[in-house]
Amino acid sequence: MTLRSVVRGVGARLPDTIVTNDDLAARVDTSDAWIRERTGIRERRIAAVGEKTSDLAEGAARAALADARLDPADIDLIVLATATPDLTFPATATRVQSALGMTRGAAFDVQAVCAGFVFALSTADNFLARGQARRALVIGAETFSRILDWEDRATCVLFGDGAGAVVLEAQPEAEADGRGVISTFIRTDGRLHDLLYVDGGPSATGTVGNLRMQGNAVFRRAVEHISEAMVEACARAGTDLKDVDWFVPHQANQRILDGVCRKLDLDPAKTISTIARHGNTSAASVPLALESAVRDGRIKRGDLVLMEALGGGMAWGAALIRM
Ligand code: ACO
Repeated sequence: MTLRSVVRGVGARLPDTIVTNDDLAARVDTSDAWIRERTGIRERRIAAVGEKTSDLAEGAARAALADARLDPADIDLIVLATATPDLTFPATATRVQSALGMTRGAAFDVQAVCAGFVFALSTADNFLARGQARRALVIGAETFSRILDWEDRATCVLFGDGAGAVVLEAQPEAEADGRGVISTFIRTDGRLHDLLYVDGGPSATGTVGNLRMQGNAVFRRAVEHISEAMVEACARAGTDLKDVDWFVPHQANQRILDGVCRKLDLDPAKTISTIARHGNTSAASVPLALESAVRDGRIKRGDLVLMEALGGGMAWGAALIRM
């Protein structure tokens, strides 16, 4: 029997504290005008002292479960994408499992930085398609504020904290009414690892480290590889980009979103952008954007949605889903 991973619910959790561009301009040599013009970002959320990635992930998971009208006991898999885990180990996903009161199934983290949610979704989809799990929470959760160099104006203005989640349920294809994950595409090129990385870690330095980035080089690669991933995900499904109802991109920079639209001749009105309010929340950005467009009624049941993301590694990918 062929199984389809159908989206049953979506959820989000953002920290309460809003940090505006003007707030940052009081801290480093930057301005609201520079940040808006170069990135489209107006503000971002920053986790409170003591607020952990797992807290945000738990909040998003509970919201997605409520949306799906399911309980934690209905879930038998958690795949959590993060590059900012609570601790080096255990997996942040196991802390979420415990916080939700789940006593069965398996929970683990996936690390593909900003592309993490697409990698986690692809992983969970494979588990469900093989019948190895029935219902999965796929979560993207980050506290990038903890790994930023707050003296480096070229990077500290770009990122924010948050979490988003979806509940996937394995359904027989014959009963899924065309809904579910249709295709995914994931790709990495480790030769590009020094374009975007954190200069600390337990094995190499024994420190947590700070994010380092060659912004211009990342920008150029982003448009090229994101476009490639979107085309490939559609090709695998035998779908034309023109048939996609909504594009839900990783929210790195409005200029990257615009560049991809130009390169692939996409309608910008079909692209969900939350960059102005959230900044770049890494693995959380795709599910946060998805949740916001579902909640405000733009993305509806039956719509064809193409997600894409790219991040450190470099890692990139796309996922085509009928909601
Ligand atoms: N405020 C004011 N000036 C700044 C700031 C700032 N916050 N940051 C950099 N500048 C200055 C630089 O010092 C430089 O000054 P100089 O000419 O005197 O040397 C000038 O602005 C231009 O710097 P560039 O780096 O060339 O600026 P650019 O137009 O490339 O924009 C940016 C920088 C926004 C980082 C851009 O390269 C970018 O968005 N890259 C993509 C990176 C990204 O989004 N990474 C996220 C992770 S990967 C992903 O999610 C896809």
